[in-house]
Amino acid sequence: MARAVHLRLAPCGFDADRPLWYTKDMSAVAQPAIRLEQVSRVYHVGERDYHALRAVSLRVEPGEFVAVVGPSGSGKTTLLNLIAGIDRPTAGEVWVGDVRVDTLDENALARWRGRTLGIVFQFFQLLPTLTVLENVLLPMQLRDLWVRVDAQRARAALERVGMAAHLDKLPAELSGGEKQRAALARALINDPPILIADEPTGNLDSATGEQIVALFEAYHQQGKTVILVTHEERLAEAATRRLHMLDGRVDGEAA
Ligand SMILES: Nc1ncnc2c1ncn2[C@@H]1O[C@H](COP(=O)(O)OP(=O)(O)OP(=O)(O)O)[C@@H](O)[C@H]1O
Ligand SMILES: [Mg+2]
Repeated sequence: MARAVHLRLAPCGFDADRPLWYTKDMSAVAQPAIRLEQVSRVYHVGERDYHALRAVSLRVEPGEFVAVVGPSGSGKTTLLNLIAGIDRPTAGEVWVGDVRVDTLDENALARWRGRTLGIVFQFFQLLPTLTVLENVLLPMQLRDLWVRVDAQRARAALERVGMAAHLDKLPAELSGGEKQRAALARALINDPPILIADEPTGNLDSATGEQIVALFEAYHQQGKTVILVTHEERLAEAATRRLHMLDGRVDGEAA
């Protein structure tokens, strides 16, 4: 690695002696369901209110592969951000398993997210001053003591998305599709039970896009829950369920 990374594995105070998704022998994984109860998100800007989500109730079962589709501005990113605890609802409740996400404080949220969710953001959100490899190592800090920080594992994750040649680059030195693939490797590094992705193939050429679709399918076949926003037919087709959003509402299951 070009520069030193300081990774600390602090003891995890949040439910540390009872890891959430593993049985005691860590053999079986108990997958959490995702549940939204009457969730609204209103943004106040100046004198105006923008209703990004309007009383959405939704349940995603463990192991489902959900494609969220709908026009620009319909609330897709807002929905993902609320599930990930990145944003908080104006009203309603967000549950993942037995954790009420919308009331966790920032510290608990960061630790919970680190072990529960992999997230690929619409605009990547790679840290600009860290190399590709360091970006992928980062979420491992937020997991638990029983995972060793392991650059080898991060390298393998980057190899799987075809990024082996770019480990020591900074994000600014990558193409759009390469950033997207680095973001996917980072999302999967902790092997989370839930993968959330906002337009994960948006910047990819078709060959790389196929590889990424295959990675999502493989992840789903391992029994993981996948929720992604996509405009791409082939990715939506890989999903087992399609949610159509319109004007802040889940408009029903799309055909
Ligand atoms: N911080 C904010 N302040 C004000 N309005 C916002 C904010 N974030 C989102 N909105 C509004 O909420 C609505 C839903 O936005 P959201 O980003 O969830 O849409 P989207 O379905 O992801 O769209 P796209 O396909 O373009 O990414 C939009 O009308 C948007 O303008
Ligand atoms: Mg969006």
